[in-house]
Amino acid sequence: MDAKTAAKTNGSITVGNKNWDFPVYKGTIGPDVLDIAKLYGESGMFTYDPGFTSTASCESKITYIDGDEGILLYRGYPIEQLAEHGDFLETCYLLLYGELPTPSQKADFDYRVTRHTMVHEQMSRFFQGFRRDAHPMAVMTGSIGALSAFYHDSTDIADPTQRMIASLRMIAKVPTLAAMAYKYSVGQPFVYPKNDLDYASNFLRMCYAVPTEEYKPNPVLARAMDRIFILHADHEQNASTSTVRLAGSSGANPFACIAAGCACLWGPAHGGANEAALNMLAEIGTVDRIPEFVRRAKDKNDSYRLMGFGHRVYKNYDPRAKIMQKTCHEVLAELGIKDDPLLDVAMELEKIALHDEYFIEKKLYPNIDFYSGITLKAMGFPTTMFTVLFAVARTVGWIAQWKEMIEDPKQKIGRPRQLYTGAVQRDYTPISRRK
Ligand code: SDX
Repeated sequence: MDAKTAAKTNGSITVGNKNWDFPVYKGTIGPDVLDIAKLYGESGMFTYDPGFTSTASCESKITYIDGDEGILLYRGYPIEQLAEHGDFLETCYLLLYGELPTPSQKADFDYRVTRHTMVHEQMSRFFQGFRRDAHPMAVMTGSIGALSAFYHDSTDIADPTQRMIASLRMIAKVPTLAAMAYKYSVGQPFVYPKNDLDYASNFLRMCYAVPTEEYKPNPVLARAMDRIFILHADHEQNASTSTVRLAGSSGANPFACIAAGCACLWGPAHGGANEAALNMLAEIGTVDRIPEFVRRAKDKNDSYRLMGFGHRVYKNYDPRAKIMQKTCHEVLAELGIKDDPLLDVAMELEKIALHDEYFIEKKLYPNIDFYSGITLKAMGFPTTMFTVLFAVARTVGWIAQWKEMIEDPKQKIGRPRQLYTGAVQRDYTPISRRK
């Protein structure tokens, strides 16, 4: 259903003695929206919402979040059910096509993705240009953007066939690039994908296999990896997805748009929080030092924040964090990790934060990044790879949102305006006359 045709009522804005009417659209669930597209033309005024806290940038049918109730739906299906019963490629199909696949559709989709997992052999020469100590997210941002230099036959966004090939290529190749970034950082040879492995097992093998011995993926760890990918796959109009949509609105090729999203995800306030959260736990070090860090996080004069806590939308527990916590304990149990000091600090920090007036008043709950870092560290990933893994999972969400935007006949280039508070017009002073 198109919101434009949804039940329409009228809203209005009054400034001083002037009043303007605008249509109000209802979605299937969630807040109504006031369509103010004509506000500037009718009033000469812009709205002002720098963090987009009250702004809907688009109409979408992909993911719904209820921050107060702690609900996350992919195409209407609760994240808990998808993570429990399905696998990541099923979630990819659902996000891209809007429905769960039939057995034959799933088999065909798995087959098509699996056979796109190799990258152009010259990508390995592309990697040689990076320093070995480059941050893997720098390598990922660069190599995803570089895909458009290798796959010219799927960059015409007007061609639905090319759009789908580019989409499959990115879902299939980004984990290969991620594993290559990891191998390059540790000085080990790249490992080719194997078509007889499932998506998560293939990824773990490309990361951890070495030529000197056979590598058999641990099924418990592979299932945990797959579930982590499902949890991170999409999340409505978050910062990196909004970046992808804005880049795509100019007609940029899909590889460049996903590279832009990857760059945005890297920030510690967004996808970089899992790396920052683990570094924070390591900095706290022991349970007895937690009060000092909680005090700093509450101090208005201190910009310090507890990484892994808080969320723009979730003002209740992040539903993904609960599943992440369960997965974390499964992985630690499987690996026989009992007294992980970081986990002790994490569990005590969570307990303190959830009972602290400040965190309760500001509705700061642990988000997905709080537990993902501990899990990924236990699985053997260095902290610098955490956001890379987030990018592997979110690639399908970025693509699904990009595809929805491109296929919207009403789509046009995104071009926000501003509140200008700079200098008024003034004449140039030649340098000879400047003091
Ligand atoms: C992700 O958008 C998405 O959907 C993102 C994501 C996804 O899947 O795409 O869910 C992934 O990015 C999760 C968030 C990961 N980031 C972190 O864990 C970094 C730490 N969290 C904060 O930086 C913060 O909570 C944000 C950025 C996540 C949300 O910031 P908002 O919505 O802009 O809220 P805010 O910064 O205005 O905070 C509201 C209040 C403030 O106090 P006041 O200025 O009102 O007095 O809460 C305080 C903040 O100071 N606050 C914190 C805090 N987070 C917010 N205080 C201490 N520690 C924190 N972590």
